[in-house]
Amino acid sequence: MDFIRQFWTIICFALFPCACANYTQIDPLIYEEQLLWVAGGAGQVNTYRIPLLTFTSRGSLLAFAEARKQSSSDIGAKFIAIRRSTDRGATWSPTSFIVDDGFLADGLNLGSVVVDEDTGAVILIYSLCFHHHQCSPSSTMLVESLDDGFTWSPPRNLSVELGVKSFAPGPGFGIQKRYPPKVGRLVVCGHGSIAGDGVFCILSDDHGKSWRYGAALKSIPYNQPKQNLDFNPDECQPVELEDGSIVINVRNQNNYHCRCRIIVRSLDGGETLPVEELVFDKTLVDPAVAAGALQKQGVVFFTNPANAQDRINLTLRWSFTDGKSWEKEVVQIWAGPSGYSSMTSLKGDSPEDNKYIFVIYEKGHKDIIETISFVKIHLYGGK
Ligand SMILES: *[C@@H]1O[C@H](CO)[C@@H](O)[C@H](O)[C@H]1NC(C)=O
Ligand SMILES: *[C@@H]1O[C@H](CO)[C@@H](O)[C@H](O)[C@H]1NC(C)=O
Repeated sequence: MDFIRQFWTIICFALFPCACANYTQIDPLIYEEQLLWVAGGAGQVNTYRIPLLTFTSRGSLLAFAEARKQSSSDIGAKFIAIRRSTDRGATWSPTSFIVDDGFLADGLNLGSVVVDEDTGAVILIYSLCFHHHQCSPSSTMLVESLDDGFTWSPPRNLSVELGVKSFAPGPGFGIQKRYPPKVGRLVVCGHGSIAGDGVFCILSDDHGKSWRYGAALKSIPYNQPKQNLDFNPDECQPVELEDGSIVINVRNQNNYHCRCRIIVRSLDGGETLPVEELVFDKTLVDPAVAAGALQKQGVVFFTNPANAQDRINLTLRWSFTDGKSWEKEVVQIWAGPSGYSSMTSLKGDSPEDNKYIFVIYEKGHKDIIETISFVKIHLYGGK
């Protein structure tokens, strides 16, 4: 194995000297961890859930979460909470709330954050009335920051152009295409509900001014009640590979075929998700949850609670083969209750930015909903 890895490292450096991480030296190490949000803390918040994390064009980190006002339930009124770090995660601003849905019975749900590196805009997309609980229709909403996450635009209703199908973006990040085809395109993927689950991607070719639906991977039977073991692709995280394809790592809601992740690939910039490009990754054992995925310098990373039954055992994996195989070694981030996770890394050229990836996840002692934790991971064993 080591020989093969070294061989590919040499080939990789010969062909793309800047684009490759030094595979032989990848040795992820938990470098720092701190809690960003704690349930039942100060103020009008009962529970924080659904953490998102992004880089910005100016090299900051932004963390977001749903701040659920009354209970830990998915429905109900919420704020969107944000904290910001300008020192690679060492210190964080106090929490502020950038969206408040008031007293809605079926309030907002996060969400997907996408950075347009051409304009510097940070775009956050979320849904309202996703579950049709005492409300109708569902709306897809967007807020945007043009000043590195300090201030945010008023919410814009994307359902005016997209329609009112229930669409829950992410949770995680959206991507901006960096490699052909469709360089510059914003691709935000999520899942549907009520009127049909499945993975759906929305696309923007004008830096977020207009949006339309692209690729869909529909559940079977579509638009009909599901039973156990039906095909039901759900929450998802897209990642662009260096060959320009988009790999989407998907929650396998009804455990079709395996208790593991569904992986599906788009070769046309998010227009289609052909069945020929769909596989089940049996190494990525999963209890049906939102998981994290990231591509940095040719290495693909994955985080989830690696257990077939329970949301415990948050684990980091990495792949030198675009996710076709995973290294045997793993890093256990937290043995106990752990739920949704998301990852990011900084895009600067400095050696410092190349050393780290960042993970945010739901962490607890008895239950996953107790805290939201931030982890800084040194990719080269702290060296
Ligand atoms: C968003 O737009 C749709 C379509 O016009 C509309 O039905 C829905 O009520 C709007 N949602 C909000 C929150 O304004
Ligand atoms: C945690 O994940 C690792 C890696 O997949 C696995 O070997 C181990 O059995 C898991 N432990 C539990 C308790 O699920």
